[in-house]
Amino acid sequence: MSKILITGGAGFIGSHACVEFINAGFPIVVLDNLSNSKEESIRRIEKITGKTVTFYKADMRDAAAVRRIFEEQQIDAVVHFAGFKAVGESVAKPLDYYENNIGGTFVLLQIMREYGCKTIVFSSSATVYGMHNPIPYVEDMPTSATNPYGYTKVMIEQILHDICISDPEFRAVALRYFNPIGAHKSGLIGEDPNGIPNNLLPYIGQVAVGKLQQLSIFGNDYDTPDGTGVRDYIHVLDLAKGHVSALKYAKEHAGFMPINLGTGHGISVLEMVHAYEKACGKPISYRIADRRPGDISANYANASRAKELLNWQAEETLETMCEDSWRFMQQNPNGL
Ligand code: NAD
Ligand code: WQD
Repeated sequence: MSKILITGGAGFIGSHACVEFINAGFPIVVLDNLSNSKEESIRRIEKITGKTVTFYKADMRDAAAVRRIFEEQQIDAVVHFAGFKAVGESVAKPLDYYENNIGGTFVLLQIMREYGCKTIVFSSSATVYGMHNPIPYVEDMPTSATNPYGYTKVMIEQILHDICISDPEFRAVALRYFNPIGAHKSGLIGEDPNGIPNNLLPYIGQVAVGKLQQLSIFGNDYDTPDGTGVRDYIHVLDLAKGHVSALKYAKEHAGFMPINLGTGHGISVLEMVHAYEKACGKPISYRIADRRPGDISANYANASRAKELLNWQAEETLETMCEDSWRFMQQNPNGL
């Protein structure tokens, strides 16, 4: 039976997608080098679904290891999450980011070609809209980036686009995620960053659980209703479901298609703090700090292409995003 290879399937978004693919009846194979995740997440996927997961602890840059998977498993599509994702770290270590994200994708695409596998769903990002597009972001706006991480997404989208032009049978959906947060309803899988979190939600969660003292809100003088930054936060479960729809779409449509996965609504940092306080039942200590370099005031998606092409739209709410995140934090205060 043909299977889907899920790269980065032990990570935050990938693990939730594995659950959704299994629940939707797709046989999956997971590749992850565990550079930013733990094997425990595979066990948890198994616990949630009651199914055994075929897992290869392997690096996507290792052609022999990737080839072995294609040799041993009948892979007919790839859902490609694997990559480094920390914006600040990418500025400090650009070569690592280009090498892992682009180099790894290169190896994967070459081996897909060797084995005649022509379907890929790729984890892109709203970061490809750069600094200068007006909101809401629409897929046909020009792409750009402000840091090496963002450039890896822009470049991989371009590579996929070019392959689709060269091969009329190739199909690639680039899902441009906005800000994924939340966790599985079981509390068994969720976001488990190494070290001090860079992103807002894991930071708030660690303040709530007592691991960190205080949140710094990066600026309250933006041109937004309460002065704090506005983003389109999307529940990771909605996001995971979007991948199942995107794969079904890709199987039926050749060519390159970028699709936003967002709610279409912006939420400010202060609104998020207050929603989390409600979910966890205690105050979140915060202070107002300077703006973070590179941040924009506000972004959110135009989510109509996903609705039109994938029949997908976000269903979770700000409340459930915070409640589910808090459940995961309480059950796993020290991560997985
Ligand atoms: P994550 O770090 O939790 O998951 C990525 C997984 O890829 C990890 O398990 C890591 O061990 C694995 N990995 C990294 N390099 C690898 C390699 N060379 N070989 C094999 N495995 C490797 O991150 P995530 O939040 O789940 O993000 C998944 C994807 O979505 C990434 O491509 C990321 O850039 C993209 N994305 C994430 C966000 C976000 O805010 N979380 C937003 C937009 C896009
Ligand atoms: C959200 C808001 C901050 C932390 C990043 C990447 C993007 C994508 C998603 C991968 C902003 C504010 C944050 C804190 C704060 N990732 N904030 N205090 O910057 O929108 O997007 O993750 O593709 O590429 O850039 O997400 O969660 O870091 O910030 O006040 O301690 O929270 O200023 O307004 P961001 P974030």
